[in-house]
Amino acid sequence: MKRIVLFASGSGSNAEKIADYFVGNADVEVSLIVSNNPKAGVIERARRLHIPVLLFDRKTFYDTNRITQLLLNQNVDLIVLAGFMWLMPADLVRAFPNKIVNIHPALLPKFGGKGMYGHFVHEAVVAAGETESGITIHYVNEHYDEGQIIFQAHCLVVPTDTPDDVAKKVQVLEHEHYPRIVAEVLAGLI
Ligand code: GAR
Repeated sequence: MKRIVLFASGSGSNAEKIADYFVGNADVEVSLIVSNNPKAGVIERARRLHIPVLLFDRKTFYDTNRITQLLLNQNVDLIVLAGFMWLMPADLVRAFPNKIVNIHPALLPKFGGKGMYGHFVHEAVVAAGETESGITIHYVNEHYDEGQIIFQAHCLVVPTDTPDDVAKKVQVLEHEHYPRIVAEVLAGLI
């Protein structure tokens, strides 16, 4: 049985799509959802999906290696960031080389880096007059949005699109592709 742990800070729609994708799969389980935000929508989703939740604060995450140790003890095969807004600490990245993936709601290397998350990304895309946006799924290293790119998908941005319009198009791509790409990374296919 391969184990996936999901990290999420917000609504958790991607986390839920990924969990749904593996329901009934005898070889893969989403064993845990990890969050830094006790008010995150993902916690209610986890409860409905019967997936345990681990909540932690900033001090535990950055000043101890408790999270890394716990994940090592649970023999986690892949850590999947699905709207997780904190930088991964160095000891965690080192403990799981090429075993942490993230989704970014734009076409990296454009519109990435510190502060570029969620709606800020879509606002920047519209302000820059871009004609396309999309998603980037990538490995995670110690820098925001800089790990090796695994997969990208594109959508059109038209001049009348608001940041919310772009967010909706990007979310369709996220839900369509992220679960399958996670499965392929886990299976060693990509
Ligand atoms: C997603 O659009 C994801 O790409 C983005 O947060 C959203 C989470 O939505 N992630 C980042 O901006 C990371 N830098 P969700 O909670 O509904 O899955």
